[in-house]
Amino acid sequence: MFDVDAIRDQFPILSRKVNGKPLVYLDNGASAQKPKVVLDTIQRAYAEEYSNVHRGLHTLSTISTENYEAVRGTTARFLGAPSEHHIVFTSGTTEAMNLISYGWAAPRLQAGDEIILSVMEHHANIVPWHFLRERQGVKLVWVEPDAKGDLDPQAVLDAVTDRTKLIAITHLSNVLGTVVDVKTICHEARAQGIPVVVDGSQAAVHMPVDVADMGCDFYAITGHKLYGPSGSGAVYIRPERMAEMRPFLGGGDMIREVHRDTVTWNDPPMKFEAGTPGIVQTIGLGAALEWMMGVGMDEIAAHETTLRDYARSRLDGLNWLDVQGQSAGKAAVFSFTLQGAAHAHDISTVLDKKGVAVRAGHHCAQPLMQHLGVTATCRASFGVYNTTQEVDVLIDALELCHDLFA
Ligand code: ALA
Repeated sequence: MFDVDAIRDQFPILSRKVNGKPLVYLDNGASAQKPKVVLDTIQRAYAEEYSNVHRGLHTLSTISTENYEAVRGTTARFLGAPSEHHIVFTSGTTEAMNLISYGWAAPRLQAGDEIILSVMEHHANIVPWHFLRERQGVKLVWVEPDAKGDLDPQAVLDAVTDRTKLIAITHLSNVLGTVVDVKTICHEARAQGIPVVVDGSQAAVHMPVDVADMGCDFYAITGHKLYGPSGSGAVYIRPERMAEMRPFLGGGDMIREVHRDTVTWNDPPMKFEAGTPGIVQTIGLGAALEWMMGVGMDEIAAHETTLRDYARSRLDGLNWLDVQGQSAGKAAVFSFTLQGAAHAHDISTVLDKKGVAVRAGHHCAQPLMQHLGVTATCRASFGVYNTTQEVDVLIDALELCHDLFA
C-alpha cells in the first residue's frame, strides 16, 4: 500500500525549511532528492568498502567490484533488458548520447543521411547529432508535436525517407510532460531497419520501462533524476548495435592489450567504459533503482497520476496562467507562464520565497521553446514524495505572483 508520508520520511532533505517555509520540492525534472538508503549506501561504500574496481585482487577491490558490477544486473532488471551485458554505465544521458553519436553513428552515417528528432528533445539528445551535421553533413529532420503537445508516432514514421539512418526521440518531454508512444515508433522503425535511440531520462522515474517490449536499440537513463547520485547513469544497448559500435573514450579498463603499435579492446560492455568509473555513484544508483522497484513502479505511476490530475484541476482554475502542453496522458510536469509581463525567473523567485522550488528558463529545450513561441517558462515537476497539499501551496504562491505582477 503506497503511503506518501512513509515515503517522505525516507528523504531527510524534505524536513528542512527554505526561506523559513517548509520545502516544497517541485524541481524533480531537473534533479530528484535522495532517500536515506541511497545516502547510507554511498556512506558505506566510501567509509567501509571503497577501492578501485576491476583492478585489484585485494579484499576491498573485490567487494567494490562486486558491488559495482551487481548494479549492472539491477539496471537490466529495472529496464527489462534481457541481460546485464546489454548495460553500459555512463555519467548520465549526456554521455550516453555522445557515446552513441561517436560510437555508433559517426562511423556509419554519410553526408545526406538523415536523423529524425522531435522538437521536444532535450539538448542532450540534440547537440550530439548536431556534431554529425556540422562534421559529416548529416541532415537533422524535425518532427513537431500537435497543439496539445502530443507527438503522433505516425508523424515520426512519415518523416522516414530512404536516407533515414536513425530516430532519436524522448520517451517523456521534460517541458510538456508528454509521454511519447515510443513502442509504436520502435516497432515500425525496426520493421524498416532503422535503429531508435530513446531518451529515457525523464520517463524512467515516472513509469515502468521494458526495453525488450519497447523494441528500442538504445535507452538512456540518468541516475540523479532517479533518486540516485549525480554522475551516474546507464544505457541499454541492443547487442547487434553494441557489436557495431567502436569505442568512444579511450583509456584503462576498455582495452585487452596495448602495445606500441596496436591496441585491442575489452569485450562489451567494458569496451565502452574507459578509466576509473563513477564507482560510488554507480553503487548509489543501484540502491536508488532497488528502492524504486521496492516501492513499485506501478504504485509510483499511480501516485503521480493522482498528483497530475489534482494539479491540472487546480492550475486550470487560474485563468491568468498559460500551461504549455495539455496532453491527456502527460506526466505530472507542468510548464507555465503568467499572462502579463512577469518573467519566469521572477515567478520562480517569488515561489522560492514561499519555499517552493521550481525550475525557470528554457529547460535545455530551446527548439521546443521556439516552437511554443516562448523564451522561458516556469516548470513544476512532481515526484514520488510530493503531495496534493503541496499542489495547494504552489497554487497559493502563484496567486501571490498574480497579485504582485498583474
Ligand atoms: N534535464 C534537466 C531538466 O529538465 C536538467 O531540468
